[in-house]
Amino acid sequence: MQTTTIVIDPAFRIGEADRRLFGSFVEHLGRCVYGGVFEPGHPAADATGLRGDVLALTRELGVTVVRYPGGNFVSGYRWEDGVGPVAERPRRLDLAWKTIETNAFGLDEFMTWARLAGVEPMMAVNLGTRGVQEACDLLEYANHPGGTALSDRRGGDPYGIRLWCLGNEMDGPWQIGHKTAAEYGRLAAETARAMKLIDPSVSLVACGSSGRGMPTFAAWEATVLEHTYEHVDYISAHAYYDPTDGDRPSLLASAVDMDLFITDVAATADHVAARLRIPRRLKIAFDEWNVWYMSRPADPDRPGWTTAPPLLEDDYTATDAVVVGDLLITLLRHADRVGVACQAQLANVIAPIRTAPGGGPAWRQTIFHPFALTAAHARGTVLRVEPTGPSHDTRRYGEVPSLSAVAVHDEERGELTLFAVNRSDTDLPVDVDLRGLPAMRAVEHLTIAAGDAVNTADSPEAVTPTSRPAPPTDAGRCTLHLPGPSWNVIRWSMEKM
Ligand code: AHR
Repeated sequence: MQTTTIVIDPAFRIGEADRRLFGSFVEHLGRCVYGGVFEPGHPAADATGLRGDVLALTRELGVTVVRYPGGNFVSGYRWEDGVGPVAERPRRLDLAWKTIETNAFGLDEFMTWARLAGVEPMMAVNLGTRGVQEACDLLEYANHPGGTALSDRRGGDPYGIRLWCLGNEMDGPWQIGHKTAAEYGRLAAETARAMKLIDPSVSLVACGSSGRGMPTFAAWEATVLEHTYEHVDYISAHAYYDPTDGDRPSLLASAVDMDLFITDVAATADHVAARLRIPRRLKIAFDEWNVWYMSRPADPDRPGWTTAPPLLEDDYTATDAVVVGDLLITLLRHADRVGVACQAQLANVIAPIRTAPGGGPAWRQTIFHPFALTAAHARGTVLRVEPTGPSHDTRRYGEVPSLSAVAVHDEERGELTLFAVNRSDTDLPVDVDLRGLPAMRAVEHLTIAAGDAVNTADSPEAVTPTSRPAPPTDAGRCTLHLPGPSWNVIRWSMEKM
């Protein structure tokens, strides 16, 4: 068996782990809002309908930023429908998901929820069916202090929303109001200019590609950024990895694709910056990512135009949790370029949190665990780890390294954390050299081994991280044993002298 070696050295600094990397996403889609975060009359809901059990799980998950209200939904959304007296709010067709939107939940409810969840809001404006004026109206309603019709309609303190997405997946032919890169680039630039006149403190995200496999990938980013670079702070990226075909080795190597995606978008953005003679480097908002059983056939008996039907309610396996852990490792490995990341979505819809319909409980899906542990322990400086060791073949991505890893050093607290995924089918011994950090004592090794088990309402803890012996560490050296395939977190603490 070939041994893998890794060196962890505080000199191999990538950047600070931005807390905004641990974002999530709440869309008016299926039961994410209605029956997820919001369910009036549920035993765990407060007087306004916000579910306390889902709020508690959101806090436990460690989510820092939540994108809202879509997604494809936002491209046909009239934000004004969701504010003002609930009884007067209109019911509307939602063309994105072919459902009926009641508008019982809107911006004000979301902001109350975000405050209770302790998360930063990330709002998307509709650049599908709407344009500059409506985006400005929404920003004025949300952030202007008062004394105008829109801001006075809000009442109370301004929301001070800092992060704004200029539309959603405008490169996708499925998007309502889909545009060419040039059409979208012009609209996004004009919207950005106007929004910054209202509130210069906002950070704006231009739409990048909705997948690396899109035929327009990279050309889209180049054209959009030619128009928008000087007005925006981020370019978005979206990626979903589909386990439906059962090709487990390829699924377990999904992070290879995400890694290339980030590298390609950064290179394209840098190319545009060079052409425009702009020294400022653009960050990436990876504001939709996850495992999604996308090609699983949809329910053929689903009745049309209903309210909050169960949609995209994937049951995640332990293998999916390993993949999610590896995607988080990849986001951290690019901490110098990725400034925001949102797992899609938060509740019920391809989500770490599930709820049973009709007043039932909420529980943690398998993918909840790597997210929660990474969000809890990835604090401080991200350190590059380049494993030397075996690789193996996959159908989708060719030869891939069997070990994926990143370390995070919290100098203040004297803590070091290694996140590692063994993507191969065989157990992997890993020799670790904590160079420059010799006085460390291992305190914990948690692992999730790949497998088909899922968590359900009846068996909510079928898959949880299991504890392995913390590796005895002597003069900064130790050996880890990583089961194949598995996700792992190993933590060290500075030894008291
Ligand atoms: O997250 C589900 C959908 O995936 C979103 O609405 C859309 O932006 C993406 O295609």
